[in-house]
Order: sequence, then structure tokens, then C-alpha cells
Amino acid sequence: MARALANATRGLGRTTPNPVVGACVVTSDGVVVGDGAHERAGEPHAEVFALDEAGARARGATLYCTLEPCAHTGRTGPCTERIIAAGIARVVAAMEDPFPLVRGRGFQKLRDSGIEVSTGIGRHEAVRLNGPFCTSILEGRPFVILKAATSVDGRIAAAPGERTQLTSPAAARHAHGVRAQVDAIAIGSGTLLIDDPLLTCRHVYRERPLTRVIFDRGLRAVPGARVFSTLSDGPVIVLTSTASHGLYADRVRALEQAGATVAAIEDPSLGASMRTLVGRGIHSVLLEGGVAVHQAAWDEALVDYAQLYVAPIALGTRGPGLAGPSGSFLASLSEQKVRQLGPDVLIEGYVHRPH
Ligand SMILES: NC(=O)c1ccc[n+]([C@@H]2O[C@H](COP(=O)([O-])OP(=O)(O)OC[C@H]3O[C@@H](n4cnc5c(N)ncnc54)[C@H](OP(=O)(O)O)[C@@H]3O)[C@@H](O)[C@H]2O)c1
Repeated sequence: MARALANATRGLGRTTPNPVVGACVVTSDGVVVGDGAHERAGEPHAEVFALDEAGARARGATLYCTLEPCAHTGRTGPCTERIIAAGIARVVAAMEDPFPLVRGRGFQKLRDSGIEVSTGIGRHEAVRLNGPFCTSILEGRPFVILKAATSVDGRIAAAPGERTQLTSPAAARHAHGVRAQVDAIAIGSGTLLIDDPLLTCRHVYRERPLTRVIFDRGLRAVPGARVFSTLSDGPVIVLTSTASHGLYADRVRALEQAGATVAAIEDPSLGASMRTLVGRGIHSVLLEGGVAVHQAAWDEALVDYAQLYVAPIALGTRGPGLAGPSGSFLASLSEQKVRQLGPDVLIEGYVHRPH
């Protein structure tokens, strides 16, 4: 199973709206004869690659897979049929597929065909790899990673309205690695207007277009913002309120002329905005700030994972402080990791782990 889980990581950041899945085929005398990973939506599933590689050696062997094999026809045929036809004797799967069309049916189909099925081994790790898939299916919203950079005294900028570079190139490289894997990066209109970020994925390879989202109920985003010069990297969605959309037709037009997709929703909560994104195929969001949208994400219990880059500088008391629940949320992060990135320190962990 450890090998199947390692295979699964090959699809990280590439399979949305599908899950990340790995598989391997092992003969009764312990020889690995096939490996597979689901690498892109629309391409064959991990089990199919592993069975293809195993060929005739799959007969009587065990298939390890990180997710329940599918029993329905989606963009590809059902994996259960391939497993049965290959003569697999035993399937060991880390977790049940939470997708309603599949849940439990894959296992049932295999058992009905006389295949021994065991589940649960490696479940914790398999669920971790599939945070975006599980959260979007079970909660109807994307998996949210809250990211912030702060000074040692907890400030995210030197003064209100002042763009402040806090962290080192080493921390930036790491942050771009995270950008390479998520479906979208999101900020509030305040950060757009003050920092005017590019919101692109640099220094690392990213295979898919990267969606950028601006939460902007008051429709304050300006068409001259730098993010609109990066449309070759992916779409920019300005998510506003239906009231502003009706009221400011000229601003909508100007933003659309700049290349933005302007979408409007009635419900002003951040949760409603997040749920809208799932309908646009976004299952993971890196929420990069600023204070107001971070606070809304905490208040509405939308934060799944937090990443805090702490720079070894003190900024005093003028600038805005880090948003968050009262008391230190850092102490209560689960599976916490602390790591040095040049002069900075990254503290990260789960706030809400999918299960
Ligand atoms: N150090 C860091 O990591 C970091 C990162 C980003 C930003 N920053 C700093 O943060 C500061 C900007 O903070 P900010 O609070 O002005 O920016 P923000 O959170 O990026 O944007 C605030 C705006 O977001 C809009 N918004 C849309 N949906 C919202 C919702 N559900 N809840 C709350 N607001 C929502 C609000 O305008 P509407 O009411 O019109 O929708 C609000 O005025 C700047 O100083 C910037 O440099 C620091």
C-alpha cells in the first residue's frame, strides 16, 4: 500500500475534478508486476495502468489501490470489470470512494465476482492526498489552504495600505510550489487594490491553467490591475454581489474588456462564494489574504489547512495584524510541521482534516 500511495502522488495537483489514485499489482510470491497512477482527468485510472503493466501476471495476484475501484462508466470504463477480467484474486483498497455513484458499489461488484476485498489499510494517508476531492464531494466547497506571511510580531504589513515584502526568496519558492498544485488562488479586493499582485505560479512547473479569484462584493477591482496582464496563465474570476453587478454595469464591462470573468451571487458569505467555485471545477483554493477574507474564512469555519510564513523582522504596531480565531491557532494545528526556509520559518498544519 505504501507503494500504491507513492504512485498516487504522481497525480497531485493535476487530476481535478478526479481524485488522486495510485495502484500496484503484487504476485502471490511478493513480486511487484505492475504500477499505476491516475495522472490526469480523462486519462485511464491507476488500476488500468497497473493491470496493463502486469499483463498475464495479474492472474491470482493482489491489487493494491488507494481508492475503491470504480464500478460505473464515466469518461473511462469501469475498473471493476478490468480487475475481474484480469483474474485478480484479492483487492486491498485504502478507502471507500465518497462519490455517491461509486461508494461501496465497486467493492460489492468485486466481492460478487468472488474477489477477496480488504479496506482501510493506508486510509489516513489516502484521505490526506485527496483533501480537495473529499471536501468538494462531502462538503460542497473547495479544500481551503489559508496562507499568510507575518513578521515575528504578528503583522502582515508595515502600515495600513502599504505593500510590504516580508519573506525571502526561499519562502517565495516554497509558496510557488503550493501554487503549482492548487486549482485556484484567491484574494479579497483589498489585497488586489493595495498589493496589486500578479498571482502567477513562478519558479516551478505547473501543468494546468491556474484560476485566480477576487472576492469583490463592492466591485472595486480595477481593470488596470496587474493580474489582468497574466491571462495566459489562466482565468481571473471577479466574484461580486448581484446588487453590485446590476448597479455598476460600466465597471463590469471594463473588467470584462480587461479579460476578467465577472460572476455574481446573491449570498454575501464567503462560504457561498466558495461553494460557487466548486461548480466551476475548483476543488482546492489557496486563500492568500488579506485580513478581511482571512477573518471571514475563520469565522465561517472554512479553513482546512493553514500555512504561516514567519519572517525574522519586527514591524511594530502600525500595520494590520494576522487574522484568526482568538488565541493562537498555531498551537492547535494537527499534523503540524515546522520548517526553515532561508531566514524564514514555515509553520503549517490542519485546522480541519477531511475524513
Ligand atoms: N502578509 C500577507 O500574507 C498578506 C497577504 C495578503 C494581503 N496582505 C495585506 O492585507 C491588507 C489588505 O487587507 P484587506 O482586509 O483590506 O484585504 P482583503 O481581505 O484582501 O480584501 C478585503 C475586501 O474583501 C472583500 N470581500 C469579499 N467577500 C468578502 C467576505 N465574504 N468577507 C469579507 N470581505 C470580503 C470586501 O470588500 P466587499 O465588501 O466590497 O466585498 C473587503 O473589503 C494589505 O495591507 C495587504 O498588504 C498581507
